[in-house]
Amino acid sequence: MTKIRIIETAYRDAHQSLLATRMRTRDMLPIAEEMDKVGYFSLESWGGATFDTCIRYLNEDPWERLRELKEHVKKTPLQMLLRGQNLVGYKHYPDDIVRKFVEKSYENGVDVFRIFDALNDIRNMEISIKVAKEQGAHVQATISYTTSPYHTLEKYVEFAKGLEAMECDSLAIKDMAGLISPHDTYQLIKTLKEETDLLINLHCHCTSGMTPMSYYAACEAGVDLLDTAISPLAWGASQPPTESIVAALKDTPYDTGLDLKLLNTIKKYFEEIRKKYISILDPITERVDTDVLIYQIPGGMLSNLVSQLKEQKAMDRYEDVLDEMPRVRKEMGYPPLVTPTSQIVGIQAVMNVLGGERYKNVSKEVKNYMKGYYGRPPAPIDPEVSRTVIGDEIPITCRPADLLEPGLEKCRAKAEELGIVKKEEDVLTFALYPAIAPKFLKGEAEEETLALPKVDEPQVESSALPTEYQVDVDGEVFQVKVVPTGYMEIEPGAANTPSGPVPGGVTSTMQGMILKLKVKEKDKVKEGDVVAVLEAMKMENDVHAPESGTVEQIFVEEGDTVNAGDPLMVIK
Ligand code: CO
Repeated sequence: MTKIRIIETAYRDAHQSLLATRMRTRDMLPIAEEMDKVGYFSLESWGGATFDTCIRYLNEDPWERLRELKEHVKKTPLQMLLRGQNLVGYKHYPDDIVRKFVEKSYENGVDVFRIFDALNDIRNMEISIKVAKEQGAHVQATISYTTSPYHTLEKYVEFAKGLEAMECDSLAIKDMAGLISPHDTYQLIKTLKEETDLLINLHCHCTSGMTPMSYYAACEAGVDLLDTAISPLAWGASQPPTESIVAALKDTPYDTGLDLKLLNTIKKYFEEIRKKYISILDPITERVDTDVLIYQIPGGMLSNLVSQLKEQKAMDRYEDVLDEMPRVRKEMGYPPLVTPTSQIVGIQAVMNVLGGERYKNVSKEVKNYMKGYYGRPPAPIDPEVSRTVIGDEIPITCRPADLLEPGLEKCRAKAEELGIVKKEEDVLTFALYPAIAPKFLKGEAEEETLALPKVDEPQVESSALPTEYQVDVDGEVFQVKVVPTGYMEIEPGAANTPSGPVPGGVTSTMQGMILKLKVKEKDKVKEGDVVAVLEAMKMENDVHAPESGTVEQIFVEEGDTVNAGDPLMVIK
């Protein structure tokens, strides 16, 4: 009799998929002890995008979050999502950094490592699997699931066998976009159970609406583990609701044995959390969206794409971007869309649409992908696109990380020079996020404010300013009345940057952060020269000189945040 075990994703994937990964540690801890009583296989609570979000937006130390969770969750294993050689970042790190990161993650509380590679390139998973095994952790290897003419059952079995040979303890089928149909689920899991001795875990998002059916098919095929999210954080771009799956399997051979009453206590808690974060919960990510069957966009990405297009003030091009996505994916050799390939493909699709010309603006990451630095794409890259992006350069064929020099000690030296190392983990935080970590580690970062929950407010005339507000202080809502006592003076021309278009002006095409300035005032540049590097949507984008001339004036500094259309410099 198969007894299905449940992995609860509330602390990681659920809020990554629905709430742009913004849940704070202080909103996780009060319910942790209750969750520890349930009897889950594990609590997915770390890794994925949570690391980045902690330091970028929440002014929280991700390592501290892990330790605090570990203090509260004594019995249930804590699980993390690790992007193979990419760890919790967006590019390959040298082996010594991968080793140290896995060791430190284990030491701070990770018991189960779910390890994947966006291209299912086993070479990118080797080191992290090996080191996690050495620690004595449960290693769950992962198939990044996708559909394409190149993704056959045979290929998946071959991949799974390779992972089994590396002594992984279990195997997750990671269906980021909720694409897997009940029939395909049954076939894949049945075959994997027959061909390997691995515990099989199905991880799906509900985007397409098929997922609960696929979960049942998985049970019939002999699945061992299922990922679910407590109901207030379930459905849509997230996982199926824990309570519903538990109830559906009750008194069947697949009974999870979990207590629905206890789950209800947890549900009530997250109901309140959901209210608190309602302003970031985008209705689009909550719905069943059958478009995903055509566009293949994974849960987490949909929510990020929406917020990125809003930042770029380009929500009206949403449909165009969706259309462009499968085209770019095909041209890039059908990568499964999961971090970082989802960002790479997604942002290229955004740039192809907003830039007015396909592959005119190309991020450094797209170039590196085409050069083979992310590993072997599932299918050949479109030769014409490749020529446009990397010219005649021949892509590498070795394990990408073999080309990387050890990097840990260099990072340590740099971080120490900056005076930001208080503990060993800080070196890793810096190694992974060199652009944003210093500010965070110096204690100069600020927590992003959470917008107030939307409330039913009385209709006011559009010209009237509201005078009554509800203020949310850490979950408690206060009613505040505002009485005007004076007027704010707005000084014209206070800022030193021009506001309208300037002749010879180089403007930012995207909202982002100036990572590097490649020129100084008075420098001579040629048309097409890279004058600055803009970090936008987690990618590095070159800013080119629109014409040849001399740099007359620069309006920004490295580290400045800019909006789409902001002038960066004048070249005449
Ligand atoms: Co997921």
